[in-house]
Amino acid sequence: MTSRNYSIETIGIVGTGAMGRGIAQIAALAGLSVRLYDTNPAAIGAARDYLADTFAKLVTKGKLEQARSLAALANVSAAHTVAELAGCDLVIEAIVEKLDVKRALFRELESVVGGQCVLASNTSSLSITAIAAECADPSRVVGYHFFNPVPLMKVVEIIDGLRTDPAAGDALMDLARRMGHTPVRAKDMPGFIVNHAGRGMNTEGLRIAGEGVASFVDIDRIMREQAGFRLGPFELLDLTALDVSHPVMESIYHQFYEEPRFTPSPITGTRFAGGLLGRKTGEGFYRYVDGKQQVPQEAPAPTALPSRVWVSKRYPDARNAVLQLIEQAGVSLDDNDAPSADSLLIVTPFGHDATTAAIDEALDASRVVAVDALFPLVGASRRSLMTTPATSRASRDAAHALFAHDGVPVTVIRDSTGFVAQRVVATIVNIGCDIAQQQIATPQDIDLAVTLGLGYPRGPLALGDALGARTILDILRNIGSVLGDPRYRPSPWLARRALLGMSLTQDDAASADTATEHTQ
Ligand code: NAI
Repeated sequence: MTSRNYSIETIGIVGTGAMGRGIAQIAALAGLSVRLYDTNPAAIGAARDYLADTFAKLVTKGKLEQARSLAALANVSAAHTVAELAGCDLVIEAIVEKLDVKRALFRELESVVGGQCVLASNTSSLSITAIAAECADPSRVVGYHFFNPVPLMKVVEIIDGLRTDPAAGDALMDLARRMGHTPVRAKDMPGFIVNHAGRGMNTEGLRIAGEGVASFVDIDRIMREQAGFRLGPFELLDLTALDVSHPVMESIYHQFYEEPRFTPSPITGTRFAGGLLGRKTGEGFYRYVDGKQQVPQEAPAPTALPSRVWVSKRYPDARNAVLQLIEQAGVSLDDNDAPSADSLLIVTPFGHDATTAAIDEALDASRVVAVDALFPLVGASRRSLMTTPATSRASRDAAHALFAHDGVPVTVIRDSTGFVAQRVVATIVNIGCDIAQQQIATPQDIDLAVTLGLGYPRGPLALGDALGARTILDILRNIGSVLGDPRYRPSPWLARRALLGMSLTQDDAASADTATEHTQ
């Protein structure tokens, strides 16, 4: 394959809906000449009006100079036929998500544009290699996956098909930077980076709800307030709407040949069928009144403290954190190796359920309550407790009062391998690690794509490092040992680095020079 020099100044955008007009906006503002084409002529006019309106609003808000706004608008013109895209250096399609329609468009474009013109697809779910397969020159076809709304979502995935000329992808990387976006580079694999990495939060949240461990709202509260995510899985599903997310969950699962890490849930299948799509239909996992999410109030925490508390010695750091809270609450500690008959028994499992922890440590399960110590317990915004099926109401309430004594809200869930936060976070880290293992993208690009594309507080690899790769590995192994479900098998990328004490963001030391070659 001969590599060419691509110089991009004039862009054609085919499909001027939500995505096309967003791309037009950032391109025109970057000083590029933009030609808009759509099979629906009214959509072209609507896109131009939208751009004029948006630029005017930005000027009013003081975010754009009048002169620049006028120059940007002057950069945008309408193409009345595909043939009018002839002089473009790049054409980006953002049309209907159908393989045969995109293939036909690219064949038509090839008969019109010059040999140096790059053809890019904004597809989120189709293979770039498949789109390019019927082109005379598939080397010029590249994935250019923007996110909605384009001007605010400052990341774009550049996807190399199997026959893509790397220089064409490089040109789109440079162009993205020129338009103020952060480019990340991905192999042509289902979901690319962001929609692949995003499987963890939703599917594990659904799995936990499906096991009857906690309600949707409790799972969201834990992921937001305990684990520090901006949105919990069910709030997120309500925002994206199930008519979009449920088919994506199914499609990625099947495209990876029923990979258990991506197994969808009948919970979304049923809700999708019933039209409980989310915010846009007024009812999803939450109800919406005048667009406002209705969240049930939490019951006040019990106040009767336990008289004596014994704390497992299995995880010293977790124990110390619990001891601090016990001292703060002024409750007496049962420091014996074998607990006294009237003590509340606190365990701090990682990946195990409370039942397994009780049995492993030969404890009276009716007095056992587990607390999640993966995120700092002292100074927490929320804490999670879980009970064994045999835990008495008195033990549960006493533990609740103890951990809520300093005013921190507490969520009590039913028994679960790895509570809520441990399971979801370990799943996110594991999937991120496996994206690195498959060399779909570099570790740096995986973390960048996830923080910018999904709004997570950290990328999956940095998150794993922050919480301890070894801890994440132990959580997954312990979940696997209880459930025997291959969903939780650790990625080799995670297991090897955790055992070697390496950062999850580090590629193989010896392969730094060959990484680019491998990712193509
Ligand atoms: P949209 O429905 O808002 O706009 C699509 C536009 O394409 C319409 O104006 C339609 O008239 C036009 N069109 C359809 N077939 C055409 C053809 N053969 N030739 C010329 N114009 C044609 O769709 P949206 O949301 O802008 O999505 C477009 C593409 O971007 C899809 O491939 C989608 O998967 C992808 N995408 C969408 C995202 C989103 O959140 N909406 C996010 C990332 C990618």
